[in-house]
Amino acid sequence: MELKVERREAIELWTIDGEPRRNAISMALLRELNAQLARVAPDSTLRCVVLTGAGDKAFCAGADLKERAGMSPEGVGEFHGLLRKALDAIEAAPQVFVAAVNGAALGGGLELSLACDLRIAADSAQFGLPEVSLGIIPGGGGTQRLARLVGVARAKDLVLTARRATAAEALAMGLVSQLAPGPRLIPEALALAERVARNAPVALRQAKRAIALGFDLPMAEALDLEQGLYQDCLETRDRREALRAFAEKRGPRFTGE
Ligand code: COA
Repeated sequence: MELKVERREAIELWTIDGEPRRNAISMALLRELNAQLARVAPDSTLRCVVLTGAGDKAFCAGADLKERAGMSPEGVGEFHGLLRKALDAIEAAPQVFVAAVNGAALGGGLELSLACDLRIAADSAQFGLPEVSLGIIPGGGGTQRLARLVGVARAKDLVLTARRATAAEALAMGLVSQLAPGPRLIPEALALAERVARNAPVALRQAKRAIALGFDLPMAEALDLEQGLYQDCLETRDRREALRAFAEKRGPRFTGE
């Protein structure tokens, strides 16, 4: 198994378990990742997934370059199809995905973190898209998701120079929203996931969809989309429970209905 999965109540911790090759993305890992994503898509009891890599050197060193060296063009095509499927599934998942970037996030590794909803990093982590130094371009959404996240100028700086940015720089440009000392990373990432998971499940799902689907729409259409998703929340029991809890000066007990 290349992906270790641990359940902690409403949260799962997924660890890429390939420290000796710096958690590089193999075809087997992609298959497991897609299988896990298919498993959790209908699981309404699961609210958040924290995704990290084993060890403290790398979150994920990108595509497995040793495996790639022996791959046919069809194999490379299949790899990219599976990578795209996995990253799209993370974005479309009803759960909130938190990338806990424990070390280098390079190439496909950075792209994997970009598909997640939130990114928290160890203060020694490094971020880069080295593809142009390898004769290719980022092929897992890097040119698109990075530019949308941090702006075209910063994306071009990272993509065209192939340089590595430090964790402090990633924080300053909004690539990650939080840093932690290495040993505190997973506890902080789980705490972040818990803060997310205690909110109303339908509201979380609709908020994630509103931001993802509305971003590329013209403003008026995006606001219509938001309105529709807001409306769905109005019909939930959890909204009424939140109002009751406020009146009774207690925390809400959300059920996801
Ligand atoms: N694919 C396959 N194996 C990889 C790999 C990758 N993307 N990245 C690292 N490894 C392997 C190394 O070949 C080495 O294997 P070996 O022990 O058989 O020699 C092992 O992981 C450790 O690598 P090393 O470079 O010694 O580790 P480090 O902790 O000093 O540095 C990285 C870690 C991730 C910063 C560094 O390995 C690196 O820059 N890797 C390449 C990243 C890259 O260019 N990815 C492609 C993006 S398109």
